[in-house]
Amino acid sequence: VPRIRTHHLQAAKDSGRRFAMLTAYDQYAAEIFDAAGIEVLLIGDSAANNVLGHATTLPITLDEMILFSRAVTRGASRSLVVADLPFGSYEVSPAQGVESSVRLMKEGLVHAVKMEGGAHYAETVRAIVRAGIPVMAHVGFTPQSEHSLGGYRVQGRGEAGRQVIDDAVALAEAGAFCILMEMVPADVAAEVDRAVSVPTIGIGAGSATTGQVLVWQDMAGLRSGKQAKFVKQFADVRSVLSDAARTYGDQVRDGSFPGPEHSF
Ligand code: KIV
Ligand code: NA
Repeated sequence: VPRIRTHHLQAAKDSGRRFAMLTAYDQYAAEIFDAAGIEVLLIGDSAANNVLGHATTLPITLDEMILFSRAVTRGASRSLVVADLPFGSYEVSPAQGVESSVRLMKEGLVHAVKMEGGAHYAETVRAIVRAGIPVMAHVGFTPQSEHSLGGYRVQGRGEAGRQVIDDAVALAEAGAFCILMEMVPADVAAEVDRAVSVPTIGIGAGSATTGQVLVWQDMAGLRSGKQAKFVKQFADVRSVLSDAARTYGDQVRDGSFPGPEHSF
């Protein structure tokens, strides 16, 4: 099966088809989602929360992102694989953004990078694209800025909608191949989708975008606790794993595992 490339996502938008994206942080998740036909896999900096146990995405390092990226790219043969530029790896200058992106491509073996931030990063996007690296822009709620945005809140309500649209247009003009929007009103996301010719991806951004993305542990129900409004849980993997671990523990304790068939 041929690899999904950025032009396939553009073709989806041009012909009115949708595509799906999920996060992946390791080989098995990548293998399973790739085989399930998920078009785009994201090594999200949400690995900070969903793998490393941090409270926010801020602490994850570029080296850690590269490690997860290497695992995912080994597991995926068809999906387009995108990695996040983590907090602190691109803010200083366009040159820093290029250097970090090159490391994700060269060491993480990903096919594109994703970067949070608005129109003020247009120059950085341009520099990374010039280096031959496709850039997915991430606007609206940008978790790396949660301390200046005042927590997890919908962005672009009312008057502020204009800013989200202007950011998306500026980043698309700078060469971003795709615009991802997180937690913005559905009508603003729809307006962005009309305003840019490149495909759009939403998470908590309504249904008018070309693609949708979820964190896989949210999608599959691995995570415990309250879910964000935009999450739909498509399975209860936490219960499946928990039951398996309990049964395994019981059988070890009562001596029914291992049986003769597991012994040499
Ligand atoms: O890191 C992440 O998981 C993301 C998303 C858009 C889901 O950036
Ligand atoms: Na992210």
